[in-house]
Amino acid sequence: MTTSPVHEAASPQGTRPRVVLGVSGGIAAYKACELLRQFTESGHDVTVVPTAAALEFVGAPTWAALSGKPVSTDVWSDVHEVPHVRIGQSADLVVVAPATADLLAKAAHGLADDLLTNTLLTARCPVVFAPAMHTEMWEHPATQANVATLRSRGALVIEPAEGRLTGKDTGKGRLPEPREIFETCREVLARGVGALDLSGRHVVVSAGGTREYLDPVRFLGNRSSGLQGYALARAAAARGAEVTLVAANVTLPDPAGVKVVRVETTAQLRQEVVGAAASADAVVMAAAPADFRPVGTSEAKIKKAADGSAPSLELTQNPDILHEISTDRSHAGSVIVGFAAETGDETGSVLELARAKLARKGCDLLVVNDVSGGAVFGSPDNEAVILGADGAVVEVPRGSKSVLAHVIWDEVATRLQD
Ligand code: CTP
Repeated sequence: MTTSPVHEAASPQGTRPRVVLGVSGGIAAYKACELLRQFTESGHDVTVVPTAAALEFVGAPTWAALSGKPVSTDVWSDVHEVPHVRIGQSADLVVVAPATADLLAKAAHGLADDLLTNTLLTARCPVVFAPAMHTEMWEHPATQANVATLRSRGALVIEPAEGRLTGKDTGKGRLPEPREIFETCREVLARGVGALDLSGRHVVVSAGGTREYLDPVRFLGNRSSGLQGYALARAAAARGAEVTLVAANVTLPDPAGVKVVRVETTAQLRQEVVGAAASADAVVMAAAPADFRPVGTSEAKIKKAADGSAPSLELTQNPDILHEISTDRSHAGSVIVGFAAETGDETGSVLELARAKLARKGCDLLVVNDVSGGAVFGSPDNEAVILGADGAVVEVPRGSKSVLAHVIWDEVATRLQD
């Protein structure tokens, strides 16, 4: 039986992108098998370089079988091919997952006592580290200093996820889901060296649709899937930003390296966005907050009336978060981006209504979707026009939500102040 690739990857030269998957000795090494499959099934040429400790967790036959290539940990095999130099030199991307505290320390200090650390010294392509360790090890000043060193040299070090660790512990230190590490790597590969233009920036993205409860089981909601907001968060993290994603009722997996704050109502969304915006260089309001909420929420489930009458709903307006953070900029110089889903009506065309909204909201950029027919909701694609308060008009043709996300960050990046 043959399986068709999930989707084919190609390097700029039209060859299969060459990925080095470094694996260091942590329990999360087993998750790297899934990451390897993601790469190989989507047409990447992968060389696995485990450390000796990694082989204590997952053996060489597994890596060799899944990658279709021989595997070695030291520099003494096939010496005539000079693997300690060649593997790094010829790579389009090196990703180390999991990266242990020990591996990060060696990489930060330029040690080269095995094949993986040699490869890290010879690679001139983008390098991604996906650390996984116990919280104490991650938070230790030595590890944090090593991470800062690696980032200052242009490596993308993905923030570990929070959750269950080895044993009974929970906390920060989990390896993000392999599929999400893969997505991040794909974005880094597509952008190449120098892709980390949001490094050192804190950005806030809101995503999803809020719910306004009538009673414990019923709510007013909307059709926002959260896909565009998640694509924005993933893209910003892949460009090196510290990302806070305020997600309203989204069931998508957490993007790698992103801090996800979950909310339900517009009031909760407002509290989290306003709080995070205080230290943010950019805020992108991709969420669809409900404009109205019931005046009161019943604590008990609302029952049908015996006489067949329907209850009447009294609604009140929710605060406009985008307007609030645009007019009361707690972080001077921040760039604020809104979205506008418009259909056009008798008072104006889509773009006329959008221009009026840009002025009314007071944000710097407005991403305008024409939603006549409901086309954009839940779709992997999007097309938009980005309007700038400075008069800019950028048309983004139909493409993936990831492509639109990167154009939005390009526009944000040019407006960020030093
Ligand atoms: N928005 C917000 N707070 C709200 C409603 C909307 O911050 N209570 C933000 C959305 O996240 C989006 C932008 O405002 O970035 C525009 O949303 P939209 O629903 O188009 O704006 P409205 O002000 O609700 O305008 P309209 O009357 O056209 O629905």
